[in-house]
Amino acid sequence: MHSLSWRTIATATALLHLCFYMEAESSPSLPDKITKLPGQPHVSFQQFSGYVTLDEKKQRALFYYFVEAEIDPASKPLVLWLNGGPGCSSLGVGAFSENGPFRPSGEVLIRNEYSWNREANMLYLETPVGVGFSYSNDTNNYVTVDDKITGMDNLVFLKRWFLKFPQYKHRELFITGESYAGHYVPQLANLMIQFNKKEKLFNLKGLALGNPVLEFATDFNSRAEYFWSHGLISDSTYRLFTSACNYSRYVSEYYRGSVSPVCSRVMNQVSRETSRFVDKYDVTLDVCISSVLSQSKIISPQQVPESIDVCVEDETVNYLNRRDVRKALHARLVGVKRWAVCSSILDYELLDVEIPTISVVGSLVEAGIPVLVYSGDQDSVIPLTGSRKLVDGLAKKLQLDTTVPYRVWFEGKQVGGWTQVYGNILSFATVRGASHEAPFSQPERSFVLFKAFLEGRPLPEVF
Ligand SMILES: *[C@@H]1O[C@H](CO)[C@@H](O)[C@H](O)[C@H]1NC(C)=O
Ligand SMILES: *[C@@H]1O[C@H](CO)[C@@H](O)[C@H](O)[C@H]1NC(C)=O
Repeated sequence: MHSLSWRTIATATALLHLCFYMEAESSPSLPDKITKLPGQPHVSFQQFSGYVTLDEKKQRALFYYFVEAEIDPASKPLVLWLNGGPGCSSLGVGAFSENGPFRPSGEVLIRNEYSWNREANMLYLETPVGVGFSYSNDTNNYVTVDDKITGMDNLVFLKRWFLKFPQYKHRELFITGESYAGHYVPQLANLMIQFNKKEKLFNLKGLALGNPVLEFATDFNSRAEYFWSHGLISDSTYRLFTSACNYSRYVSEYYRGSVSPVCSRVMNQVSRETSRFVDKYDVTLDVCISSVLSQSKIISPQQVPESIDVCVEDETVNYLNRRDVRKALHARLVGVKRWAVCSSILDYELLDVEIPTISVVGSLVEAGIPVLVYSGDQDSVIPLTGSRKLVDGLAKKLQLDTTVPYRVWFEGKQVGGWTQVYGNILSFATVRGASHEAPFSQPERSFVLFKAFLEGRPLPEVF
């Protein structure tokens, strides 16, 4: 069971408007314009999708889906969204299940009332090559992918994307993402800051990271207490899971292909008690909400491989695998028969999960970039407690005083979660009742959080 390759795990797992339109007519982005997605209701905003070639020689290209803001896109910021995995799709998970304008339902698309394109121009990128519709004509390129290559590719992508969309070149830019994007986002932001020293191209205004992997041991080891305090494991198993073999040790042995007998015993016990029938990405939701919510199955190896995926006939998977949808999206399938939520061809360097990115977040904050770390509070995969501890630790290290003391925030008349802000630049927030994919399970609260983040304001204190 422990010799499972990660591939197996992955498988298991107004006037202004007028001017704008005229500009679009002559723009290099025109071939990528989406006329209409099959089953899509009428909308007033423009959508684009297609490829940006990274490397002519190695024949690698990344696929993007770009949704302009609903109202007055020229005055709204540009927001890049990245999902994690590593190897999961920002199109299928981010755009079509979390914060994009539509969600597939049978043959049609229905509007998401809390789509983030109400406030921003949203760019969803399938990265690295081998994920979703992104590809390499030479499959040898799938075996050497790691954080470093992904970061550089994402930077090249954006530079070249600006050639298609020059009107967005110096636009206020925010980078957002979730889960393993706790690696991608800070690493990309860091490369942008370096690049800006040569040529000021990226007008980077802030980062938002949802249930992110920032420091492997702290993030993973907060799982034991989360399981225990939510009644998923017994007192005695909690003791084993914190003393005999903790989760970071297990994962690090697992990725090195040698799980010790003690860790094997402890993990079997933990798996037996937590059960396969509880969604680790939201311990209060019933299982099988959908397979698209499986993105961090990869950062979180399963003791029991989930061979039976009852949600395989998931709406998004069905929708994105329709030939007419693929055509409308200007997408192609290269080297794979079907579009998948998480890649089964990518051979990512999984040990990179151990690279701490909290220090990168620190250097970005020092460079004056605001950072928000938020946590869906029902997630046991990257629990809020680990993220909160990491953010608090970073604030102490950077000697940032608390500017907003730990308090509740409101969405409507209900508590949307808790928040704390340090030095008016580093923020932590929970999203109450939200899963690992916060905008999926709490769209309205997540939207309030997103809007406050873009405006650089603390979350609503009263209702
Ligand atoms: C991949 O190969 C196809 C077919 O030869 C070609 O049309 C396409 O441009 C190539 N992609 C890249 C990124 O070079
Ligand atoms: C987890 O286990 C490793 C290896 O045994 C140990 O070094 C580390 O301190 C432990 N961490 C926690 C939070 O228990």
